[in-house]
Formats: sequence, structure tokens, C-alpha cells
Amino acid sequence: MGKLALNGGRAIRAKSRAKDWASWPVSDAADAKLLAEITKSNRWSYDGPHEWDFAEKFAAYQGAKFGLCCSNGTVGIQLALEALEIGAYDEVIVPGMTWQATAAACVDVNAIPILADVEPDTWNLDLDHVESLITKKTRAIIVVHLYGCVTDITKLVSLCKKHKIHLIEDCAHQHGTFWKGKGVGSFGDVASFSFQESKTMSSGEGGFNMCKTKDLFYKLYSLRNCGRPYEACPVVFGLKNPVDVSMAFQSGNYRVTEWQAAILLGALRRLDKQVKGRDKNAIYLNSQLAEIPGVLPMRRRKQVTQQSYFNFSFRINPKELKVTNAQFCAALNAELRLTNVFQAPYEPLNMCGLYKPRTKVRHKLDAAYWKAINPKRHKIPVCVEAYTKSGITTHHQLLMNSKKTMDEVAAAVKKVVDNIGELRDATAPKTKKYTALSD
Ligand SMILES: Cc1ncc(COP(=O)(O)O)c(C=O)c1O
Repeated sequence: MGKLALNGGRAIRAKSRAKDWASWPVSDAADAKLLAEITKSNRWSYDGPHEWDFAEKFAAYQGAKFGLCCSNGTVGIQLALEALEIGAYDEVIVPGMTWQATAAACVDVNAIPILADVEPDTWNLDLDHVESLITKKTRAIIVVHLYGCVTDITKLVSLCKKHKIHLIEDCAHQHGTFWKGKGVGSFGDVASFSFQESKTMSSGEGGFNMCKTKDLFYKLYSLRNCGRPYEACPVVFGLKNPVDVSMAFQSGNYRVTEWQAAILLGALRRLDKQVKGRDKNAIYLNSQLAEIPGVLPMRRRKQVTQQSYFNFSFRINPKELKVTNAQFCAALNAELRLTNVFQAPYEPLNMCGLYKPRTKVRHKLDAAYWKAINPKRHKIPVCVEAYTKSGITTHHQLLMNSKKTMDEVAAAVKKVVDNIGELRDATAPKTKKYTALSD
């Protein structure tokens, strides 16, 4: 028997506290009351009073000029691209480390996602690499403020201006993050948020678009509502003049219900306090992790005035510790009596099991397009290194626990490092073999 819990040793987290973790998602009695009221009313579908109450409040909280709900964060990106009239053969630069939806939405409008590498200490877009990828065909950059780090927005906005390309913010991970006091989602031409269950604001499923101009708002409205013009909608954001009804165009149904809006109103009421609580715990935990040799906290930019966390992440130095992140996670989870809660970050999109752009017949536009959407043609070594060797991440739920729990997490990390020799000798959990970068 070894010292590490993985090898039968005594775990850092007491058995009596094994199930004592903060839960997610959360709701309260006021949410339940409102849901019941809606159920009894005859107003269930889109464009209801709760939906627009929520849209105005959430856009205002993030500092965006206009905003509206849509069916989910994947569709939010698709509608952003469509509103900006980005389509067949246009190139869109996206990070190589993100949930597959960021790139898949581009392929779904027949654009070509170009995978850019990320910074090793934030996993946000490497803006030098991004600039080197800009061509005449580039129409937009989709930035993902990943997990708990924000891209240098000031620099990114000026890069987009310099090259006359659009900026789309994928803010699925950062409801309540502020850059120099202004919310993410208010910087891009269009932004997209997700309200899927795991997100820091949730209605089970759901999404949201923010935008800067009245015209983009009108377009987004029509795009999410079967092409109907905005005049069908109640007066919001002070937009009193209905647009020309003849402006209707082809689109699908990407709307939300009043029940989703009701749940989101409750989530928004709780959001700021929750974000501040997580941020406080993250700052504390990072200060503890920074003291442990071979462990590297993520970098927080000084312009970030409030950081929201979809995930809390850190890195190990695999050369120094001579173990992989997969091995480290197995030991850390065991110390905290958890299963797979600490894990590697997203699979790089050039090797991602769920990003398979060449599997749908409708994307077979021609041989050149088929070749262009092959993700294996992109080189993103930092994403690969983080996934296979150094990156460790865990859901924001962890940060909703007590300071005592943060101390236990830091103690568990330290114990694994202190007994790293024992971990090296243990049977290594399998790291997925990296096979991309061919073709
Ligand atoms: C970065 C990112 N973008 C987009 C999405 C898609 O959101 P949804 O699941 O609401 O479609 C997600 C979902 O996890 C995400 O993490």
C-alpha cells in the first residue's frame, strides 16, 4: 500500500465528506412559483414578457447594446455568422482548443474553419498565430474566452479593425466576466452565449446573441424566428420603429419558451453573487497552487476586473514531474474521492472525436471545400500539449464550495506532487494517442 489514495493510502478528503459537494444547477422557490404561473397562463412560446424582460436585463448586465434569446449556444454561433453574411468558402479563424460547436457552426454555414493555436498559460487564442493565418478570404475571428481566462480583447479588437474582419465572441464559458469593467459579449460585432445545463447560467438548454447595431439585432431576430421581421416583437431596447415587413427572409425556428426565460431570470438574479464567490475561491486556490513545485496556475490578465469560470484550470510541468496530466488527474481525483472530475482540457479540434466535418453529405460542396475543411491540416501544438501532457481542468461547481474545500484541493495537489515518484511507478492511465497532423 502506498501513500497516495490511488494506491490504497488515506485520501485527503474524509470519507464522511465524500458526497458533500455543492450541486449544480440550482434554482429557488421564486423560480418554481414563476414556472407554475407560466404553466397556468396561456403564454408559453416565444416573444413572451419574461423572455424580453430577461433579454433586456442580461444584455444590460454584460454592457451590450442589444441582445436576444436563441435555442442554444451552437445555434447562437450559426446565427452570428449568418447575420454577418458569412457563408460558403469564407474563412473563419477559431481556436483549436474549444468545444467542437465553435468550428462546427462555421461548417454548417459552409464556411471554412481555420484552427489557430492558443497561448500555453491561458488557452486563449494566440493572437500572433491568428494574425499569421489571416488571408484575403478571412471574414471573421471567433474568439472563445475559454474556461476561466479572457483573451486580450483590446488587442483582438484592433487586430480585427486593422484587417477589416468581423469579431464574433463565443462567451459560452463566461457569463459575468468583465474586461476593464465591461462585460464580455459587448466587444464583438456579435456574441453568443450558451445556457446549457453545465454553464454558469442555465435553462437546461438555451442560448443568447448580443450585438452592437440595430440592423444586426433586426437580422438576428428574423434569423431565429423563421425569417419574420422584428415588427412582430414587443418594443424592446427602445426600438420603437418596426422595420419594413417586406424584409422577411428564409430561416428556421431557433426560439425559446417562457419557462426557459423564467428560469433564466432566476439565474440572472443569482449570477453576480455566484460569479464573485467563485472568483474569490479561484484567486485563493491559485495562490495556494502557485506555491507547489511543478504546478502552474493559469495567467489572469490585469485588465480582467471580474472573472467568471466555466471551469477552473491549472497545469503541471510534465518535464519536471515526469508524469502526464492523465496520471496526475487519476491521483488527484482519488485524493478527493471523485471520479473523473479533474480531467484534461478539450481535445484539440484536429483530433476531436466529435468534430468530424467531413461526415455530412451536405458539406460536400466540391473537392476543394472538402479538402479545406479537413481539420487534420492544421497545426496546433500548444493545444495538443495541453491536452496530452500538462492541462488539468474541472467544472465550476468545485469553486462553489467552502474555503476549507479549496484548502483540501490544494493539499491534495501538494500530496500528489510530494509523492510523485509513487505516481510514476503506478500503472499509468492511458493517454489518448495523438494521431493528427498528417494529410
Ligand atoms: C465554447 C462553447 N461554445 C459553444 C457551445 C455550444 O453551446 P450549446 O451546448 O448551448 O449548443 C459550448 C457548449 O458547451 C461551448 O463550450
